[in-house]
Amino acid sequence: MTKRIGIIGFGSYVPDRVMTNDDWSKLVDTDDEWIVTRTGIHERRFAADDQSTLDLAALAAEKALDDAGITPDEIDEIIVATDTPEVYTPDTAAYLQHRLGAREVTAYDLGGSGCAGFVLALDIARTRVQVASKRILVVGVELISRLMDWTDRATCVLFGDGAGAVVVGDGDDVKAEILSADAGTDGSAADILTLETGGTRRPFTKEEADRGGHHDIVMNGREVYRHAVKRMSGAANKVVEMAGKVREDISLVIPHQANLRIIETIRSKMGLDEKEVYINVDRYGNTGSATVPLALAEARQEGRIAPGDFVVLTAFGAGFHWAAAGLQF
Ligand code: ACO
Repeated sequence: MTKRIGIIGFGSYVPDRVMTNDDWSKLVDTDDEWIVTRTGIHERRFAADDQSTLDLAALAAEKALDDAGITPDEIDEIIVATDTPEVYTPDTAAYLQHRLGAREVTAYDLGGSGCAGFVLALDIARTRVQVASKRILVVGVELISRLMDWTDRATCVLFGDGAGAVVVGDGDDVKAEILSADAGTDGSAADILTLETGGTRRPFTKEEADRGGHHDIVMNGREVYRHAVKRMSGAANKVVEMAGKVREDISLVIPHQANLRIIETIRSKMGLDEKEVYINVDRYGNTGSATVPLALAEARQEGRIAPGDFVVLTAFGAGFHWAAAGLQF
């Protein structure tokens, strides 16, 4: 008999500091109307000066552990999806293992997979639980505000900070069984959305820093938009089919929250009603690999998900990477 593997606990955290579009218009040449029309974002949260990625991750993780009814010493593995890590090396997962007071378990980051990182990590956790019964903490976290270019109006207004976490396990504790998952990569698009400086191709030097290269996000917005719609709707449809379901079975789609227009286009491509798609990009902006677990935790808290619901997660990010999963609550 196949094991029931899925999510046993959900958690999220967003910092208190609210950054509105009007706040941005005082810093760069932009306005509320441009940002809302193009992105649907009204405000986002920014971490306090004394917070780092680890703080956001730990706060979301603690809530997920609470919700799962387990203590840190019951965690068997930790995966952190982030592109804005605590330090360059070692990974954020190492710091999180210590901060939470977990045992000396396997812990690693999924870095560089952009906004698709959390959903991919969820699938990795599922297959790890399949091999050996475990409790795996999976976190999606970003503190983008500290690393981005605050003078580049084309990118800075898009992002926010936040974290979401789940505990993946098996047996009777499962609240959302992972019925299906899929992921893919198109590396030919790697240079369309990238933060280049800091690697071996373009090492971090004084000249790079003087030029501002260390927070220079390269993004071809139109190309990202086009691919995001195609890949997120394609991956979502695939996991619906893999789960043996049809469109009518979908209770809620939780897409990566990059941009309201991308989400709306996916919704119409998939033939979904407004109430069948979860949206919080208006309040948080694009929180990278945190968008999906943050939205998942909030949707549940708000009563948008009930037992028996079939929920689809779908995400897309730098790489290009994409990933989707079908959850049976
Ligand atoms: N305020 C005012 N004007 C701006 C701003 C701003 N914040 N940013 C750019 N502009 C200007 C541009 O300079 C340009 O001016 P120009 O015509 O004089 O040159 C004009 O607005 C139009 O710019 P476009 O890039 O054509 O605007 P577009 O309609 O493509 O919207 C956007 C830009 C919102 C980035 C869109 O392309 C998009 O959503 N792309 C998806 C990218 C995305 O979501 N990235 C997030 C990270 S990746 C991910 O999560 C998947």
